[in-house]
Formats: sequence, C-alpha cells, structure tokens
Amino acid sequence: MAKPQKSFTCNACGAVYSRWQGKCDDCGDWNTIAEQTASVSGAPKGLSRKKGSQVALVSLDEPIDEAPRLLSNISELDRALGGGLVPGSAILIGGDPGIGKSTLLLQVMGALALKGEDCVYISGEEATAQIQMRANRLGLGGAPLKLGCETSLRNILTTLDEGPSPKVVVIDSIQTMFADHVEAAPGTVSQVRVCSHELINFAKKRGTIMLLVGHVTKDGQIAGPRVLEHMVDTVLYFEGDRGHQFRILRAVKNRFGGTDEIGVFEMTGAGLKEVSNPSELFLADHNIREPGTCVFAGIEGSRPLLVEIQALVARSSAANPRRAVVGWDTGRLAMVLAVLDARAGLGLAGCDVYLNVAGGLKISEPAADLAVAAALMSSLSQTPLPDETVVFGEISLSGDVRSVAQSNNRLKEAAKLGFSRAIMPKSKKGVKSEIEQQSVSRISDLASHFFPDS
Ligand code: TYD
Ligand code: MG
Repeated sequence: MAKPQKSFTCNACGAVYSRWQGKCDDCGDWNTIAEQTASVSGAPKGLSRKKGSQVALVSLDEPIDEAPRLLSNISELDRALGGGLVPGSAILIGGDPGIGKSTLLLQVMGALALKGEDCVYISGEEATAQIQMRANRLGLGGAPLKLGCETSLRNILTTLDEGPSPKVVVIDSIQTMFADHVEAAPGTVSQVRVCSHELINFAKKRGTIMLLVGHVTKDGQIAGPRVLEHMVDTVLYFEGDRGHQFRILRAVKNRFGGTDEIGVFEMTGAGLKEVSNPSELFLADHNIREPGTCVFAGIEGSRPLLVEIQALVARSSAANPRRAVVGWDTGRLAMVLAVLDARAGLGLAGCDVYLNVAGGLKISEPAADLAVAAALMSSLSQTPLPDETVVFGEISLSGDVRSVAQSNNRLKEAAKLGFSRAIMPKSKKGVKSEIEQQSVSRISDLASHFFPDS
C-alpha cells in the first residue's frame, strides 16, 4: 500500500493545497486550511481490465415519467424552490447557526407528515425529547413524523433502506454526520463530502427527497455548505438578522427552477410564520417622515417589495470618513457617492455616511441606486422626501438615471400600499398607473429638488 500523502484542504470551499497556508487563494478566507490524510493508491491505471455494461442513451424528445412535485403546504418554501419539492432531489439548506433551519424543517416535515407523506427526520444535534418538545410548541405534536437521533451514516442508511423508501428525509445537520470508513473527524471536508455523496446517491436511487442542513461558519472550524454546493440539486440559504424577526429563504442554485425567488418568514414565539405580503412588514412605520429616509420600490424574484432605506450623512473631521452599510453593497454606495460628487457637486467626500436597509433585508438590485441617492441627499439637506413617495431607478456613472425592469409592478405595489407619487426614470413607453409619476433623467434633476438654491 502506498504511504498516506499529506494534503491540506480549505474547510470553507474545499480547495486542496499541497502545503499549509494562512489564506485560501480560492475563497479568500483566512485560517480555514487544515491538514488531511488521504491514502493514494499509486498512479491511476487504465480501465481496460473488465468490460463495463452499456449505458442506455435516450433522445431529448423521448417521453419522461416525471413524478409530480411535492407541495409542502408552506407556500413560501414552495415558491423559493420554484414550485415544490422534486422527488429524488437533494436540497441543501444553509444558514448561520440559530437562524431557524431546524425550526423551518420541522414545520415543513410536520406539515408533510400531516398530509400523509412518509417523512423521516434525522437529527445529529438534538435529542428526540428536545425535538418532540419543540414540535409540541409548534403545534405539531400530533404529526406522524418519524424521528431519529443518529450521527452514524452507516446506521442511517441501514434504517432508511429498511422497508419502502420514505418520501422525504431531513439530515440535520450534515456536519454532524460520520462515515466510519473515512478517517477524519465529523465536520471535516472529507466527512461532509462522503456523507453527502452517500445520502444523495440514496435519494437518486430511491426517489426520496433529501434535505440536508448545513451550518455556515465564519471561522472555518467545520466545513461550510459551499463544499457541497456542486453536489446537490438545489441550494437554499436561510438568512436574516438575529436581531430582527424576518427570515429570508433564498435559492442560490436550482436545477429545477429559477434562482431569483425568495420566501419570506417571520420568527415568532410559535415558530416561523409565512409572510405573503412582505412589503407591509418591511414598511411597518413608513408614515413617519424623517429626513434621510426613502421608500424604495424593489422587486425580489417575481414579487414587488417596498423597503425603507435610511441614510445618515454627517460632516467628518477625520482624514478617512466612515462609510458603513447594512443591507446593501459597499462598492455600490461608493459609486453613488462618487456620482453625486461629480455630477451634482454635493461634496460628500468629507462626510461620514451610514446607510441601512430597514428590517434586516439585503438588497442587490441596481434599481435601488436612485432611492439611495434620494436618502443621502435628503439627509444632507435635512429635507424629507415628499409625502407618500416611492423611488426607484438605476444611476449610471455619467449621472443619467436609467430605466429599470418591471416599473409597472413596482407602481402597482406602491399604489396598493397607499403611495401616491413615484420618483422614477423616464420610460420610453410610458407606464399607466394611478400614481403620479415624477420622472427624472439626470441625477442633478433630483439634486435640485433638495438643494433648490444651488
Ligand atoms: P433553530 O431552528 O434551532 O436554528 P438552527 O437550526 O438554524 O440552528 O432556531 C433557533 C432559534 O429560533 C432560537 O434562537 C429560538 C428561535 N425560536 C423562536 O423564536 N420561536 C420558536 O418557536 C422556535 C422553535 C425557535
Ligand atoms: Mg438546528
């Protein structure tokens, strides 16, 4: 047998190195590279020894026997998945510890079990009594869900192999699972990979839906979900701020649907509640008109979403003024500030700037540019925006305000929530709406509203 070779693997992304180094070149994380022993049995040989069996090749138009998607009855989850769970698929649910992954999955499994589906929940983190207590608290005490506490992959596969295949299996979490033929501690890249590989194989072979929970860790002590992203069919991230009650389920990879849909939940004393109209939640008290706040009419997936953007601009005496952003991209803020400086002459270079998206939401749409600019100018000039106004539009480096997609839906949502005016880009076709449209074509047009004298 060849002597075991040392290799070093990044716990965050799974990149392999021959020597230890402090920073992973692939994902840029620090201190995540750990030693691993893997036995390499010589150089790979040719495959000529034995003839394999033939693979059945089919054409694209051959009829498919597609099993219908399984609806979980939790429509926000079905929405994020692109219309329900696909039989035989492996789904990874990642998120920070304590964000509510186990709660969500317990609620999903409880609902499915009550519908009469055969559901198995394997926990490697909690005792059955703890899960039962939680289920009782969530009002799911009567659900015919099969619970198991186990971390040994061999025992889990033996259990699942017994009798007819379960419809849905939850593994909470993949980082606690342990395959005894791999010489590595649970949570290391090789354990996580081997265990998921076996479980995903089981799912494909038996048509079971496999839901894998993966903790995201900042310090790289255990392998993160990114190690598995390429192995599973669907990757969902459960995000949110632990200080806020909102939780967002976001698809970042989906072999069976789009990746732009989100599911919105609210964490309450009785578990996660679906939020079917998120705008109402994120705009709880938008009636308070303050300088520096602005309501952005955004789109998340196919759904319009109104959120409040808050900015604070203050003169700074420091050589490097502070820029702090929560819920938006720092680079994008720097760009908007530069454009405001260069094209509207606002002189923000000597100011501390703080920007916050209310409610713990993260926005990535470029359409938020104009709303951010409006909030910044409103704070700088100490002038609130006009009453009942929403803002959206993309800003280009030249200072032009560019039109964005789905203006119609944005205006419709704003009208539904009682807004009467929209500051928005000029659209070529024109948008019909009961809302008064105040179109701006240059960022300087908007600046002249806040700074009429200059
Ligand atoms: P949990 O699902 O255990 O998180 P994860 O599995 O992602 O680590 O969620 C734990 C948090 O959720 C915990 O801090 C308390 C909160 N929580 C509620 O607020 N209400 C509830 O009904 C439940 C079950 C949990
Ligand atoms: Mg958990």
